[in-house]
Amino acid sequence: MPRYPEKRLRRLRYNPLVRDMVRETYLNKNDLIYPLFVAPGEGIKKEVVSMPGVFNMSIDILVEECKEVRELGIPAVILFGIPEHKDAVGSEAYADNGIIQRAVRAIKAEVKDLVVITDVCLCEYTDHGHCGLLDGENILNDETVSLLAKEAISHAEAGADIIAPSDMMDGRVLAIRKALDYKGFTNIPIMSYAVKYSSGYYGPFRDAADSAPAFGDRKSHQMDIANSEEAMREAESDIEEGADIIMVKPAGAYLDIIHRVKAEFKLPTAAYQVSGEYAMIKAGGKMNWIDEERVMMESLIAIKRAGADMILTYYAKDVAKYLDKQK
Ligand code: PBG
Ligand code: ZN
Repeated sequence: MPRYPEKRLRRLRYNPLVRDMVRETYLNKNDLIYPLFVAPGEGIKKEVVSMPGVFNMSIDILVEECKEVRELGIPAVILFGIPEHKDAVGSEAYADNGIIQRAVRAIKAEVKDLVVITDVCLCEYTDHGHCGLLDGENILNDETVSLLAKEAISHAEAGADIIAPSDMMDGRVLAIRKALDYKGFTNIPIMSYAVKYSSGYYGPFRDAADSAPAFGDRKSHQMDIANSEEAMREAESDIEEGADIIMVKPAGAYLDIIHRVKAEFKLPTAAYQVSGEYAMIKAGGKMNWIDEERVMMESLIAIKRAGADMILTYYAKDVAKYLDKQK
């Protein structure tokens, strides 16, 4: 290998066309999954205070939104529900006429060719805001897993294309896979939130979904932010239990984990650029302290470069519009 002065790395950087020729990572519309929040009522479109540009929408508005998402060329949405009533056992999570079940049916009736992913957890549906059933302050694992399987089936029956458990209970992927197969949904993939950290970056989401825990935290099921070897064990378990796509969440502060998971398991890997990541870029942009569009693209290309095959991001629509503009 030559050395300086024969070697000059800048040679490939002078001409913008040459720069494009040697660019290694591209963000495509096909990489995007757009998260949406469904709320009760009609004609409702309420902006989430800490997430400008993100809304709680009633089903009628949601359907129109999904049409726009599809027209922009985004292949998939993931749905989060804000139920009419919350209770100790999260009944609306697995009710036939629950908010998500109705939303999925409405989208499927009106929007062609959109992949509808549903988030499976109890925290949006329990009055205590925890991801599972409680025994005192303890979150019960196996009892919760049964309800999650029930929730997954009800989503599949409504027409969901992919099931995405986000709860981090042990054994939930296996239970959901078995339940789906038993009900004949053998071809519905599971995208598991395999490596989900107990993160401060979820703050704005909990405002959006009104799902902050009433007491305590999620540290007994979500992962310690400091751990990387454990992330490998989490991903491995979910894969053994039948996950088809594994997710790392959050994304930006966990690029090392995305890279390791992709390199080690070589499975389709998703990364979730979560609410706090979005809110920080938004806020910085609003203050004119950073160039929002530029940092949006930089943050997402970094996630892809780390190894993500797909990215859940509140910026999906903005990215699609940006990519159209580039043509
Ligand atoms: C539900 C769930 C959460 C997120 C996705 N699914 C919140 C949590 O675990 O408290 C966070 C998404 C985001 O912050 O954008 N378990
Ligand atoms: Zn949860």
